[in-house]
Amino acid sequence: MRIGRITSILFLSVWFNQMAWGQDDNRIAHGKRVFERYCTLCHGEGLGADGAPMLPGTHAIYIKYRGEVPPLLQHRSDVNIELVKTVVRNGLASMPPFRQTEVTDSDLEAIVAWFDSVADE
Ligand code: HEC
Repeated sequence: MRIGRITSILFLSVWFNQMAWGQDDNRIAHGKRVFERYCTLCHGEGLGADGAPMLPGTHAIYIKYRGEVPPLLQHRSDVNIELVKTVVRNGLASMPPFRQTEVTDSDLEAIVAWFDSVADE
């Protein structure tokens, strides 16, 4: 039956769409988890050690850009996968590098997906 076929095609496309959305949600949640585990100790909110006004990563970015971009990475809309991969694989100033065995490329892509989902415009 023609109607039956169209209905099932519609049903399937809605279903595939929802699967894709679900995967995005999982990726974003995974990115947030990885970031919280490996990055927020330096890039989170709150006071730094020894009376520093911010945590070291947050503070370094605040000083480096003189307040032109938000100091929290997830609030920036200019942080893309190329920057994250370069900095995370090589380290930058006092930020240590991370190996693939600690944080994979796909973890980094998930982190950027999370940034994109919460970044200020
Ligand atoms: C030990 C502290 C520390 C940890 C852990 C850390 N960072 Fe950093 N990060 C820094 C510091 C400090 C800077 C600023 C470096 C500089 O002076 O340019 C920085 C800079 C960056 C930058 C560059 C921002 C810019 O615009 O220059 C990115 C991107 C970044 N970190 C991502 C991450 C990610 C993702 C993680 C977790 C996988 C992470 N960092 C973990 C301390 C840290």
